[in-house]
Amino acid sequence: MILPVYLYGSPVLRKKAESISPGYPRLREIIENLFETTYHSDGIGMAAPQVGISIRLFVVDTSRIESDEPLLKDFKKVFINPEIISYEGEKVVYNEGCLSIPGIREDVERETRITIRYQDEDFNEHEEQFEGYPARIIQHEYDHLEGRLFTDLLSPLRRRLLKSKLNAISKGKVDTTYRVKNVR
Ligand code: NI
Repeated sequence: MILPVYLYGSPVLRKKAESISPGYPRLREIIENLFETTYHSDGIGMAAPQVGISIRLFVVDTSRIESDEPLLKDFKKVFINPEIISYEGEKVVYNEGCLSIPGIREDVERETRITIRYQDEDFNEHEEQFEGYPARIIQHEYDHLEGRLFTDLLSPLRRRLLKSKLNAISKGKVDTTYRVKNVR
């Protein structure tokens, strides 16, 4: 089922999400809905708080991006209770957007390599290193579980310049091709 995406300004996007355990109700369905909503909105990943569910879960799927980048092929994963245990490498700047902040794209500086511990959809434990674009997406989605948005990482000047646009989004004054919701 395609779910509405919560917009900037919704309190759920600012909450630290809760860890979950294997018996969590309707988890399969939530995961399926997250993927469906991601595809519908032409995204490459989505965190549960973005559909109003404050749990430590996000999904990523870059397989639909046309690219020769081998790191992006078959990169489809479910991350449950993730914990980034180290950030490494140099910081690089990349232009980011977010389905909860439609119409805004900004250069964001992040580390090139991360090590993350997480559980998959069957609650098997993994510890993996990611770099490049996948590491970038994971850091972005992970931030959602911490109540952090990419606009928080911009300079105070950039944030000031975006303020009126962000205010408009939080009032639902925004055009999107996908369903959105703003809860204030
Ligand atoms: Ni996002």
